[in-house]
Amino acid sequence: MDKFVIDGGLPLNGTIATSGAKNSALPALAAALLTAEKVVLHRIPRVRDIRTMERLLVNIGSEMSVDEETVTIETPKILSPEAPYELVKTMRASSLVLGPLVARAGRARVSMPGGCGIGARPINFHLAGLEHLGAKISQEYGYIEAVAPDGLKGGHIVFDRITVTGTEDILMAAVLASGETTIENAAREPEVVDLAAMLTKMGAKIEGAGSSLIKVQGVSQLHGVTHEIIADRIEAGTFIIAGAITGGDLTVTGCVTEHLGALIEKLVDVGVRITAPDACTVRVQPDGGLRPADMTTEEYPGFATDLQAQYMALMTQADGISIISETIFENRFMHAQELMRMGARIRIEGGRAILAGGSRLTGAGVIASDLRASASLVLAAMVAKGETVIDRVYHIDRGYEKIEEKLSAAGARIRRVE
Ligand code: EPU
Repeated sequence: MDKFVIDGGLPLNGTIATSGAKNSALPALAAALLTAEKVVLHRIPRVRDIRTMERLLVNIGSEMSVDEETVTIETPKILSPEAPYELVKTMRASSLVLGPLVARAGRARVSMPGGCGIGARPINFHLAGLEHLGAKISQEYGYIEAVAPDGLKGGHIVFDRITVTGTEDILMAAVLASGETTIENAAREPEVVDLAAMLTKMGAKIEGAGSSLIKVQGVSQLHGVTHEIIADRIEAGTFIIAGAITGGDLTVTGCVTEHLGALIEKLVDVGVRITAPDACTVRVQPDGGLRPADMTTEEYPGFATDLQAQYMALMTQADGISIISETIFENRFMHAQELMRMGARIRIEGGRAILAGGSRLTGAGVIASDLRASASLVLAAMVAKGETVIDRVYHIDRGYEKIEEKLSAAGARIRRVE
């Protein structure tokens, strides 16, 4: 298993480029199953979760070629409408094939996702949504089966709670359902908007993506498409916080500043100087010491749960107490224990983390517990005195493309050891 060895204490300077969004690329790959024609996707980040989704598509019957960040997919026939346990257990987003498979083939069999490091993460809303579209759902032998032999029919879906992949799954099912579907309390994340843009280019009729009410007029078939994935706002946000925590002068390019509003606002609050020379570039510079500020995670356009761990690393360096409230997942503070091993002073009370701030972090051996937790440990290590060894960096490889190369180029001392 690979480890990262990081020598802290150096500011990040220069420029880091943002890759395509993992969480947009995953539904885009699943959406390729909706047509027999050719789908060409650009700016697909070469990260482990994407490779897992590609394997899943090939198992299902897609023909695929990968040329750097361009993936070409053709699925003349659905050979096996199934997401096996071996793949679902390594990536829960495999359940994104559920909607497209029922819509295109009238049947999907997807392994039930098991427990997860950050919370229970059931897919009951995806299933209830598909039932509203006329699918019959059953569960046996650890698998969920959804069938609609005569095709899906439009319906009215109200999500009990905002769900990102749930919205995407139902959107992909609804585009081929007969008649009109309305999705209330839909997720407004940029990744949902990106998926809707791709589906629209394929011939789908969608209104309201990016708002909480999405309307879909079903069509009988979709055609091929060429689509470029949006920038990864979580990766960009991680680099912006990296610039802030190390007190460097760092420019993050190729992002969408509009998608980073809540983060930028918070960083300005805590005393980081942020400028955006254009709509795709953010420059971070130090502006005196860091002040503490409380933060609560929310659905988009609020502060992303996927940046909570990184913000926690930053607040260990603020001059005073800050309270971080996690409202999306019930168990997303695993990084706090590891940050404490590096000298952070944090108390966890249910869904709240109370940070004393002003901690002089020192290098230690730490363990990455999930994707974003690993990113927060990398950030903490870059500001800590001495050497930090982060174990289980396969978590970070799930979602960050060449992170050690990107950070090294900006002056970090980080190396991967086997
Ligand atoms: N939920 C249910 N039932 C459902 C679906 C969700 O109870 O059927 C609950 C979840 O347990 C959670 C909340 O609703 O408490 C919101 O979960 P959501 O469904 O929105 O999460 P997701 O779609 O599984 C995506 C991202 C996550 C990101 C969350 C929240 C992808 C592939 N994953 O997950 O990204 O944290 O939205 O923004 O888009 C990551 O990239 O590190 C990551 C975990």
